[in-house]
Amino acid sequence: MSSATIARMTDDASSDNSRLLATTTPRALGAYYTPPAAASVLAGWVVESGARTVLEPSMGDGVFLAAVAQAAAAGGRRIESWGVELAADTFAATVAAGPLEPGRAIRGDFLGLEPFPVDAVIGNPPFVRLRHVPPAEARRAARAAAAVLGAPMDPSGSSWMPFVLHASRFLRPGGSLAFVLPYELTYVRYARPLWRFLADSFARLRLVRVRERLFPEIMQDVVLLFAAGSGGTTGAIEFEAYDRVRDLDLGRPDRTASIPVELVVVGRRPFVEALLPPALQAVLAGRLAGATVPASELVRFNVGYVTGDKGFFHPREAVVRRFRLPASRLLPSLTSSRQLRGAGVRTSGLPPAATGHRLYLPDATALAPGERAYLAEGEATGIAGRYKCRVREPWFVTPGVRTPAVVLPVFADAPVLLENDAGYVASNSLLCGYLQPGLTAGSLLARWYTSLTLLQIELEVHALGGGVRVFVPSEAGAVRLAARVVESGRLTARTDALVRAGEIARAYELGDEPVLIRQLRLSPAEIELIREGTTILGRWRNGSRAGRPLGLAA
Ligand SMILES: C[S@@+](CC[C@H](N)C(=O)[O-])C[C@H]1O[C@@H](n2cnc3c(N)ncnc32)[C@H](O)[C@@H]1O
Repeated sequence: MSSATIARMTDDASSDNSRLLATTTPRALGAYYTPPAAASVLAGWVVESGARTVLEPSMGDGVFLAAVAQAAAAGGRRIESWGVELAADTFAATVAAGPLEPGRAIRGDFLGLEPFPVDAVIGNPPFVRLRHVPPAEARRAARAAAAVLGAPMDPSGSSWMPFVLHASRFLRPGGSLAFVLPYELTYVRYARPLWRFLADSFARLRLVRVRERLFPEIMQDVVLLFAAGSGGTTGAIEFEAYDRVRDLDLGRPDRTASIPVELVVVGRRPFVEALLPPALQAVLAGRLAGATVPASELVRFNVGYVTGDKGFFHPREAVVRRFRLPASRLLPSLTSSRQLRGAGVRTSGLPPAATGHRLYLPDATALAPGERAYLAEGEATGIAGRYKCRVREPWFVTPGVRTPAVVLPVFADAPVLLENDAGYVASNSLLCGYLQPGLTAGSLLARWYTSLTLLQIELEVHALGGGVRVFVPSEAGAVRLAARVVESGRLTARTDALVRAGEIARAYELGDEPVLIRQLRLSPAEIELIREGTTILGRWRNGSRAGRPLGLAA
């Protein structure tokens, strides 16, 4: 690194990088390189925007710098490019390969780099949770984000966000940003202040999603963010969805929409809804908006209990006998969604082989001698020192254990909602639902098993990079269900038989005629539209992989 470039770094940034590099791995650095096809789309846009100076804040092997040089050369122009890289070996290899002049290559932490003016910033920053980056780097990231936002960034967030915020400080008035960013940018709570900032700082925002995976090997879903006209403001995001990178290259989007920034800032999921056919969007926003309510108005979902040590707190029969643990302190429990297979829609239908798990929940004020011995063993073997145990008082009483009215698996594509008529308690592999006063579990089941619920789940519940859906209470509570429904014992019995047989997709369709058509007055054509919408969103969630059959747990 030249002395000129060292002078650009703050003291804190340059002092500890060598120690950091010795202990970091490609994963910790978020070192996943962008395919050239995607890099050239962003580079083409930057060059067309008229940029004459460009900065790549985390250049890796320099794919963006090469793409910028190529796009500029194609237009008979020359662009002055700067590149920053934290990893010493990557830096050296990239500088040697020559996509930029060595004098404009900066080795160090971009988040500690003093801003200097450029027309555009382009790149694919690292996506690493701040809690997983080394402390000094995390502190710099937090400082960089707060300096732009004027308030601390949510520490649960990821490193790409300070990169975008800090990058904005380098832009001349009218300048642009072009970044590959994680798809979660479109819905996570921690990114909401970023959207507000972008809307208040750029004249034009464009977000591109491509169904084909750009990073198949790491199952990372990404979007492309283009922000132009630094110093301006806007209230809307131009959203474009493409099936393949080739379509993006050819400028042939599947769908386009103008999305109010405000919807993203208040936590809605407009980028998902925009993928649906307009006729279906109209049904959802029209008749269905009035005839449905969020599930949270009917049932309150919580994550099940966390013991801190599954084995110790779910003792096997031999252990129960050896320590004479009292039966009254052993609560029949559901600890995995696998237990629900074959049960139908009621926990009383659990196959006998799935019923043996019991949570040991001692009464701290009345411990039997055998219990004292068992807990002493827990202390001797270090269970009491486990994080979840040592932060509670006393360490051996699992908090928040309450028998739910219904249960729902946390990881599932088309989750089976079960009435908990057998009174199990449930661990955090499941969501526990507690009914609002006056509601029966049967009427909740009648509302749940329709094609509309599958569509609502696609709209409201997020998925991990590989497409596996994760139910969290707030998102499960946002799934809209029929506001009113007439329960039918016959319908529940037929749903139960289908779920028991593993015919989950058919179980969800069973409610369409009695609930959606006869009670909500939807037409058969609208039901078709709803099913088609679910298929479309499922394809987007699964990227370019083949669709998986609906199942209990992913
Ligand atoms: C996701 S890779 C992207 C590389 C390149 N932009 C591309 O898309 O091919 C992120 C790069 O950022 C580097 N990096 C990680 N943290 C950094 C930091 N704080 N400052 C500068 N570079 C960093 C990593 O070493 C890695 O090369």
